[in-house]
Amino acid sequence: MAGMNNHVLLFCVIALGLFSGQWASASDDIPFMTNVYGREYVLLNGKWSAFTDLYDQGRKMEVYKNRKPQSNEEFYEYSFDGAMRLNVPGDWNSQYPELKYYEGTMWYARHFDAPDCNPFRSHEPGTSAIAGTGRTFLYFGAVSYRCRVYLNGELIVSHEGGFTPFQIEVTGMLKEKDNFLCLEVSNRRTPDAIPAMNFDWWNYGGITRDVMLVSVPEVFVEDYFIRLDKHEPDLVHASVSLSSGLSQDVTIEIPELKVSKTVTAGPDGKADFSFKVKRMQRWAPDDPKLYDVSVCSGADKVCEKIGFRNIAVDGERILVNGVPTFMRSISFHEEIPQRMGRAFSQPDASMLLSEAAALGVNMIRLAHYPQNEYTVRLAEQMGILLWEEIPVWQGIDFDDEGTRAKAQAMLREMIARDKNRCAVGYWGVANETKPSAGRNAFLCSLLETGRQIDTTRLYVAAFDLAYYDKSSGRFEMHDDFTENLDVVAVNKYMGWYHPWPVDPSEAVWDVAAGQPLIISEFGGEALYGQSGPEDQAGSWSEDYQARLYRDNLEMFRHIPNLAGVSPWVLFDFRSPYRFHPANQEGWNRKGLVSDQGQRKKAWYIMRDWYQDRR
Ligand code: GCU
Repeated sequence: MAGMNNHVLLFCVIALGLFSGQWASASDDIPFMTNVYGREYVLLNGKWSAFTDLYDQGRKMEVYKNRKPQSNEEFYEYSFDGAMRLNVPGDWNSQYPELKYYEGTMWYARHFDAPDCNPFRSHEPGTSAIAGTGRTFLYFGAVSYRCRVYLNGELIVSHEGGFTPFQIEVTGMLKEKDNFLCLEVSNRRTPDAIPAMNFDWWNYGGITRDVMLVSVPEVFVEDYFIRLDKHEPDLVHASVSLSSGLSQDVTIEIPELKVSKTVTAGPDGKADFSFKVKRMQRWAPDDPKLYDVSVCSGADKVCEKIGFRNIAVDGERILVNGVPTFMRSISFHEEIPQRMGRAFSQPDASMLLSEAAALGVNMIRLAHYPQNEYTVRLAEQMGILLWEEIPVWQGIDFDDEGTRAKAQAMLREMIARDKNRCAVGYWGVANETKPSAGRNAFLCSLLETGRQIDTTRLYVAAFDLAYYDKSSGRFEMHDDFTENLDVVAVNKYMGWYHPWPVDPSEAVWDVAAGQPLIISEFGGEALYGQSGPEDQAGSWSEDYQARLYRDNLEMFRHIPNLAGVSPWVLFDFRSPYRFHPANQEGWNRKGLVSDQGQRKKAWYIMRDWYQDRR
């Protein structure tokens, strides 16, 4: 069984790597299976035991072995029994008042019995579900920001990056009963991290998304990318990878389109398809058609709903299915403000997306990091295009090779998870970076990495470099990196961080001429319910924010290559560097909706403006 041999070899490599001090990080070519929610899985969510380890003593104490005193002389200065209980998924900051600002290591642990049944395992008489064939993977939707995973006292994988999934094969490692799963999680900021030492959102730490045991057959459909051709309206391409280099048949079925195509995988386990489809209804924001798609091979069959659309650039226009489409966008962080914590569930996704939909958007910029899969899949069902980005946010160490490798891993993991989501129209690679040779090389390497995997989507980055030039009387931006992008985006806070140099009605822009330009952030702060003079920024009033929106929307009318706008931001959100004792209290108040869910005056201005552009 080639698969098993590969698996054993892989485990040995990991084990050796672990004990020699390096860890096999989840990005080291450990299989990444796509569409875990469409497979056989059990959730390991719920209450986990946990304790803080601010001085990182736990690894030295081997707390992950969960030792108990065996004699009167023995004692251990830790115990998971009787420890704090944390909800998983969830950030720790919002679960205990004393953890609000906690930045350090947290040890999590739980016990679990192996799944008592796995349909892929042939249960020879007398063998348990564990001893049969089939394979089992441990999957984490996200752990913020870095972690080591220990199973039954052994370190099995590490991962860095707080917003993308990772998995590790645990076939043959599970006991029938009482497995001990332990995570060492740290949200400590470091200069070589992504994001780095400061960022305008809360530094939530924890196992912030679903944890699962996923069961698959011995040879399974590991990965697939099924998409409409970049430009053709009826040509589907599919790339399927089996978990082992077996030349077995792979079949793709789309029953509603009467499609059933079979290709024999090559010795590398890969099968590529291209086929025309008659009468395909393409997914579009105003008609989000999704088809049931199955990918079958051997004992495995993976199903999900997939949409098919084209998205491309034509000069200064963005075309969706060949139709010039203005992006009516909004941004939100992955946060439920009323709960003061990370969003992670289907109901959370519904709350955030329904508030965005009420505004009349056809796009959302999921700021500033890949958000959870529930949000992405629900946006797709609702017909909302997505801009997904990795958290290359302002002050990243662009000259650090390790940082560049981390950014590439995050981009690969984001694309790996969501490449079959037709709602995702844009991959964002950076936010507000400053021109330098190091930055250009760093971002060019990201674009190269992304385009090696996916050439069907638009690559974008947001810049805060557009300035009013007194000599020319125009807003201009000079950053030669923008020519590498499909779409250029500008964050510009006229009336907030920048006073008006001219009347908004006379503002002339000459930025990224010849390319589509999206205003990816604009806005100003207002405390819900606070009234004040509409010409006084410091009033933090809804009236000032409303006036600011009217002025910016007036300026946007004169931007010749404007292809979309995305106000910053849908909801007030938490940020450690928003200090004003009355107006902020640790909240960034640029929301069109307050942290309690109340719509501010500017919300209605934006809703009406979008209404006129449907
Ligand atoms: C920047 C940044 C946002 C930030 C915003 C603000 O443009 O991209 O992450 O929250 O400005 O200052 O409110």
